[in-house]
Amino acid sequence: MFKIIKKENLNNDIVRITVEAAFIAQKAQAGQFVVIIIDERGERLPLTLADWDKEVGTITLIFQKAGFTTRRLAKLEAGQEIQHILGPLGHPTEVKNLGQVYCVAGGVGAAEIYPVARAFKQAGNRVICIIGSRNKDLLILEDILRGSCDEFFITTDDGSYGRQGLVTDVLKDLFTVIEKSAHTQYPGLVYCIGPVPMMRAVADFTRGYSVKTIASLNPIMVDATGMCGACRCHVAGKTAFACVDGPDFDAHQVDFGELSQRLKTFKQEERRISEENA
Ligand SMILES: Cc1cc2nc3c(=O)[nH]c(=O)nc-3n(C[C@H](O)[C@H](O)[C@H](O)COP(=O)(O)OP(=O)(O)OC[C@H]3O[C@@H](n4cnc5c(N)ncnc54)[C@H](O)[C@@H]3O)c2cc1C
Ligand code: FES
Repeated sequence: MFKIIKKENLNNDIVRITVEAAFIAQKAQAGQFVVIIIDERGERLPLTLADWDKEVGTITLIFQKAGFTTRRLAKLEAGQEIQHILGPLGHPTEVKNLGQVYCVAGGVGAAEIYPVARAFKQAGNRVICIIGSRNKDLLILEDILRGSCDEFFITTDDGSYGRQGLVTDVLKDLFTVIEKSAHTQYPGLVYCIGPVPMMRAVADFTRGYSVKTIASLNPIMVDATGMCGACRCHVAGKTAFACVDGPDFDAHQVDFGELSQRLKTFKQEERRISEENA
């Protein structure tokens, strides 16, 4: 059993929980995730390790109330327990000193990018974070992200905060400045995480500049051990299982159309279960 020691609502949709999980905290690295099973009737829910404290023995998870299981998890309070947490799972993000790294996130991806931005910063990179949100109320972790990078940009779809527009608008502007300057260089890496259309747009843009781009993929996962095939995706024309081969992949090689389609596989069932349990 894993005890929730702290719970905070970051906004109406997004919840942060800190959970006692000493063994996972000991091994956790940026880019990895866990699978949660709330109780004996629970389905398996993959969530990125948003933070961890090796000394205290806790992990932090930040999740959006997307459907049945995330809503159930959001109902648990500090002091209550989660039956199973498996992890850390997936390959850690490959962190090196590449000079300059752009970390681009959309929506709840802001939580998932924090440990990655921090790790690249600790490795000596100049880190630029670009965070997109639908509106100001949905923006999370602004202060903590600001503190983990050298330059920080916010976009909102409705212009209620930061720049109105998409994360790719900022990316385009930054690349245009580089193009016109004799002294600045393109980043060694662009890392993106968030909604599929956002990751696809980032990949389509950076492909034109041949700038290495990694996307952290979020396909539907079931066992998360490479056995069930639920997280199957195509990268460079080859089958990959995001749970054991990823979740980080070369974004220029990912078949985002297939990923998007596969995420819709259980839409009807998900809607029915959500409605029945509303
Ligand atoms: C490696 C990985 C890390 C993730 N990290 C986070 C995170 O840190 N925070 C966060 O808010 N979300 C994260 N997600 C997405 C999260 O797992 C889904 O939102 C969640 O499973 C939805 O379940 P539900 O029952 O609440 O909603 P449902 O109604 O079942 O589904 C809502 C939508 O979520 C997606 N989804 C459903 N089941 C899964 C599943 N088993 N795996 C992946 N996606 C699914 C589908 O697109 C679906 O339409 C991550 C997904 C993966 C694969
Ligand atoms: S989730 Fe089953 S193979 Fe990846």
